[in-house]
Amino acid sequence: MEKYYQIFEKNKKWVEEHKASDKDFFKQLAEGQNPDFLYIGCSDSRVTAEEMTGSKPGEMFVHRNIANVISNTDLNAMSVIEYAVSYLKVDHIVVCGHYYCGGVKAAMESKDYGILNPWLRNIRDVYRLHQKELDSISNADDRYQRLVELNVLEQCINVTKTAAVQKRYLSDGYPKVHGWVFDIKTGHLIDLKFDFEENLKHIREIYDLGHSV
Ligand code: CO
Repeated sequence: MEKYYQIFEKNKKWVEEHKASDKDFFKQLAEGQNPDFLYIGCSDSRVTAEEMTGSKPGEMFVHRNIANVISNTDLNAMSVIEYAVSYLKVDHIVVCGHYYCGGVKAAMESKDYGILNPWLRNIRDVYRLHQKELDSISNADDRYQRLVELNVLEQCINVTKTAAVQKRYLSDGYPKVHGWVFDIKTGHLIDLKFDFEENLKHIREIYDLGHSV
């Protein structure tokens, strides 16, 4: 069968499996969502937010783009953060990168990627911020994987710079921001131990949006 039609067959099977274990499964889903997590990850087809974390429908609000970039002028990403933090009131925001990320690889190449250039610029900026450390890594593969990690940490900072995160954290003590890397060779998630409180303190010295005017 053509791959396109197989999708619908798989969907039918998925529906039956869920109904078999809980006949009201979809009825309950329709009633609303109350996720604890906002997951921000790469669009890469190998990095499956829900599957690799064992999350069920309703447990994770998901935003994915090329190389898990959070740009201040990206209305899509900013809307996702605002909605997740202020309305869904998630407790945790995770930025999850992955080793061997094609977006990060492209940003390391001296090449014109056309319409992708402004997007990749975000990652090139991460390189510039950490140029000294990255250039000191002689092995090209190690340098590539380190940029994946540094990109995650910089995007955690970008999430922390938003008014939505600062305001709600100051009043509720949540959400907290975390940085992960998915190790595509082993399947394991690595917590990069982004120090949210410490970073927030530094960020608020300049990007203080925690109080209304
Ligand atoms: Co990627």
